[in-house]
Amino acid sequence: DDTKAGVKGLVDSGTKSIPAIFHHPPCSLPQGQERVTSATGTDAAVPVIDLLAAPREEVVGLVRAAAETAGFFQVVNHGVPGQAMAAVLAAVRRFNEEPAEAKRPYYTRDTTTGKVRFYSNLDLFQSPAACWRDTIFCDMAPEPPLPEELPEALRGVLIEYADAVQKHALWVFELLSESLGLAGDYLVREMGCGESLKVAGNYYPPCPEPHLTLGNSRHTDPTFLTVLLQDAVGGLQVLLDHGGGRRGWVDVPPVPGALIINVGDLLQLVSNGRFRSVEHRVLANKSTDAARVSVAAFVDVGRSMRLYGPIQELTSPHGANPPIYRSVTIEDFIAHFYKKGSENRPRLDYFK
Ligand code: SIN
Ligand code: FE2
Repeated sequence: DDTKAGVKGLVDSGTKSIPAIFHHPPCSLPQGQERVTSATGTDAAVPVIDLLAAPREEVVGLVRAAAETAGFFQVVNHGVPGQAMAAVLAAVRRFNEEPAEAKRPYYTRDTTTGKVRFYSNLDLFQSPAACWRDTIFCDMAPEPPLPEELPEALRGVLIEYADAVQKHALWVFELLSESLGLAGDYLVREMGCGESLKVAGNYYPPCPEPHLTLGNSRHTDPTFLTVLLQDAVGGLQVLLDHGGGRRGWVDVPPVPGALIINVGDLLQLVSNGRFRSVEHRVLANKSTDAARVSVAAFVDVGRSMRLYGPIQELTSPHGANPPIYRSVTIEDFIAHFYKKGSENRPRLDYFK
């Protein structure tokens, strides 16, 4: 029953050395790695794009460049009210800092049932070790939970935030469609992007031995697009190419008021590899007092039996640009994600 109190429960019990299940192999930890780049001098790598500062074609060009290289960008002037962002961060913090009894009813390791799930260490699916993080995960669209299904701490706030993010995502899908040379409504109208929305409220308690573990192991997002909100603590890193076959972890520094957008595996697949779903991770929280909070909104296509493959307009079957992925159902796509033992290979290679 202790595990149901999450990592926060461990911290509250006064743990000074982290249990062995949280120890990551040295090669996965920053100390064991050849090269870590700080944000200094690499700001252009994960650009901050002001969506209203330039003519639309210029914004489309910036979005295209970012989606083709880092697979990550930050946006400001995105239309999601600052007050809704602050409120959802505070609400996720409030929920996680409630007594264990308040969180226990939502605890489950079953990812197939319920619209609201609280868990810790689900990472064991994809990772050799557990992570220093708890998560409250809510399915918000197409069928939002009834208000009474949501923990009280999150209730009105989460519904309001999810609505604002879903609207914002429609704008991003227009920019992404145009940056692929498609009609502005292509991704929403033809692919059903934005029909599904799942929100993960992540809580990263201060870690007494941050050099031994991670807040979130390296991974790509299996969904279409992620809209991520992080607080001021920091710790998110992306794995970027530096040319000459060298890769390194680059910080994505907190920018007040910004949202982070990243390409997911499914967008990489339908864009025929033009847009990149890039690996990222979160360092264990080194702070001694403040927990880190982030809210990841996974904006996805609806669930159906339809096949998703490289967009025909972007490929030429017999020409220079053949489809590099086969078509898959979302069900197959997700099933592959939950398979063990595929960590060493980019997951999308399986669909080549
Ligand atoms: C994630 O990649 O799922 C979480 C990112 C974060 O907490 O910043
Ligand atoms: Fe992620």
